[in-house]
Amino acid sequence: MTKLSVNINKIATLRNARGGNNPDVVKVALDCERFGAQGITVHPRPDERHIRKSDVYALRPLLTTEFNMEGFPSNEFVDLVLEVKPHQVTLVPDSPEQITSNAGWDTKKNFSFLSDLMVLFGNAGIRTSIFVGTDVEMIEYAAKTGADRVELYTEPYASLYSQNPEMAISPFVKAAEAVRSLGMGLNAGHDLSLENLKYMHDCIPWLDEVSIGHALVCDALYLGLEKTIQEYRNCLK
Ligand code: PXP
Repeated sequence: MTKLSVNINKIATLRNARGGNNPDVVKVALDCERFGAQGITVHPRPDERHIRKSDVYALRPLLTTEFNMEGFPSNEFVDLVLEVKPHQVTLVPDSPEQITSNAGWDTKKNFSFLSDLMVLFGNAGIRTSIFVGTDVEMIEYAAKTGADRVELYTEPYASLYSQNPEMAISPFVKAAEAVRSLGMGLNAGHDLSLENLKYMHDCIPWLDEVSIGHALVCDALYLGLEKTIQEYRNCLK
């Protein structure tokens, strides 16, 4: 079964636009779970432009599904993860000023840095995932760091999908086969949507988890959150 983890950063962005507590990020996360989400993802950034540290603390004891914290492993992020102990940490190579992640790790260049982190998180009992592109060498080095999973950066799939779905998925199937043969778990995320998710799942049914934020929140404006989450779940059946 492929789990749907809802990334709630955009809910926090909306709340922060007015300074109050509307929408209430914790309530939305709990509602996502009630409506069928099997996990909640947050990406706390140093400038707290969407998810704040205080959100992470508030969410941790209340969530009943999988809690996934993603981010660049700065000292501050690593300390927060070790303190909060989510079920999964996803390491992303983005700098603080980036709007959103736009590439996977160079796991060869950052091999010792990532390997040390895998030991740290592994000893704390936190499942580890490394955000990577489809280059098989990068996946092999991710496996060598001791990571439990990789998360494939799916933006290139999403942007090509409408023109040529077969061509768009091809490198992802090869990468997913490599991940499977290395004995790692497989996550995917970035720009997945109701348009492109089902085809990805049909081609890579051994995906463990997808983490989806932007398109899901946009769809919820029209369909409502409950129906939207059900529709995303339907793509993963
Ligand atoms: N996975 C990672 C590592 C991300 O950085 C993001 C964006 O925060 C996502 C998944 C979700 O991407 P989207 O918001 O496009 O669904």
